[in-house]
Amino acid sequence: APAALRELLLSRITDVPDHPQPGVVFKDITPLLADPVAFGALTDAFVDLCARHRVDKVVGLEARGFILAAPVAVRAAVGFVPVRKAGKLPGETLGQTYELEYGSAEIELHVDALAPGDRVLVIDDVLATGGTAEASLQLIRRAGAEVAGVAVLLELGFLAGRQRLEPGLKGAPLEAL
Ligand code: PRP
Repeated sequence: APAALRELLLSRITDVPDHPQPGVVFKDITPLLADPVAFGALTDAFVDLCARHRVDKVVGLEARGFILAAPVAVRAAVGFVPVRKAGKLPGETLGQTYELEYGSAEIELHVDALAPGDRVLVIDDVLATGGTAEASLQLIRRAGAEVAGVAVLLELGFLAGRQRLEPGLKGAPLEAL
C-alpha cells in the first residue's frame, strides 16, 4: 500500500501485551474500525484489489475478516461468503482441519456458496502463521472455485505465514496492506 495509507492504518492498530495469554502481543484493530476515514481507506484499498484481480466473490474469515470483507463486498458489488469455525454454518459444509502450534482447528464453508470458476479473494485482518488462510484456500478449491488472492490488513512477518501460504497460493498474490 502507499506510504500514507500504511501510516494511517498502522496508527489505528494498537498493541495489547499479554492478550489472550502471557507473552503474546495482540494487534487490536478496534481503533481502526472506529475511525470511518481509516476504515473507509482500508475498504477502498481492498475494493481496488477486487477490481485488479477480477474478483467474483470475497470470502471473509471469522471473525474479524467478516467485518473487513462485508463493506468490500458491497462496494465492489460482489457476493460475501463466510468461512466459519466448525459447527457454526447451518447448511451442508466442506470442512478443513489445519495444524496449530499446539493441536489443530477446523473451518468450514457452505458447499454451495461458491460457483465453479468463481474468482475468490480471501480477506482477513491478520496473517500470523498462515494456517487459517491456507485452510481457506483448500476449501475454495475443493468447492471448485478459483483463488484470486489473499488480502490482509496486517502481516506478522516474524511468524512466516507468507512462507507457509506460498505453495497453496499457486502463484496467486498475497497482499498485506
Ligand atoms: C486470528 C486472525 C486470523 C487468524 C490468523 O483469528 O483474525 O483469522 O487468527 O492466524 P494464523 O495465520 O496463525 O492462522 P482468531 O483465530 O483469533 O479468530 P477470531 O477472529 O474468531 O477471534
